[in-house]
Amino acid sequence: MLTASEVNKMKYAQPSADGVLPVFLERWSPRAFADRDVPAAVLKTIFEAGRWAPSSYNEQPWRFFVGHRGSETYKKILDSLVPFNQEWAKSAPVLIMGVAKTRFSHNDSPNHYALHDLGAAMALIAVQATASGLAAHQMGGFDQTKAREAFAIPEVYAIGSVMALGYHGELSDMPESFQAQEQAPRSRKALSEIVLAEMDRPADLG
Ligand SMILES: Cc1cc2nc3c(=O)[nH]c(=O)nc-3n(C[C@H](O)[C@H](O)[C@H](O)COP(=O)(O)O)c2cc1C
Repeated sequence: MLTASEVNKMKYAQPSADGVLPVFLERWSPRAFADRDVPAAVLKTIFEAGRWAPSSYNEQPWRFFVGHRGSETYKKILDSLVPFNQEWAKSAPVLIMGVAKTRFSHNDSPNHYALHDLGAAMALIAVQATASGLAAHQMGGFDQTKAREAFAIPEVYAIGSVMALGYHGELSDMPESFQAQEQAPRSRKALSEIVLAEMDRPADLG
């Protein structure tokens, strides 16, 4: 079985272009977390990175519920996850739930970019977590109704995703059923599939 550092090496992205910042290649979504707390100062740094995400009208629609293992907030987030996610995410020392205000504060009109902007902040959080030596794994597999009730989230907020955050753990400490996936190679669509000149024609990237 591979060690955590061997898994990280294997998961390191193979870029199809030069010059990508190493932190983007290094980031991946593990399900194995070490039994090690995230210091408050590190968590603060990670959220600070998210705070500087761009957003429509600089609304900053994101709000993050954050819970450390053992806290009531953590328990509420964990309880809302589907059983498959609960099984591995319970090993993460920190759980975060991102929500987004769906109306602009300046005129109360609908903000169609609320979830988009929350996603941008979550991406920056994941990248900063990687740069800080941690790992983040987002989840859409949770019960929205349960989460909304647990935190009494008003209707004006949409719930985005849950993120498990912590230090990389060893595969040997996780349930066997997850180990194969944890060692699977990463894959991505080719740039020609996602960067377009027309709907059916790739852009010419040279
Ligand atoms: C919005 C969102 C929802 C996701 N939902 C889940 C989930 O419920 N359970 C899970 O194990 N992984 C989930 N993932 C992780 C993805 O499967 C993962 O990001 C993708 O396979 C790419 O792998 P990488 O992040 O390691 O590059 C989710 C990721 C995102 C961004």
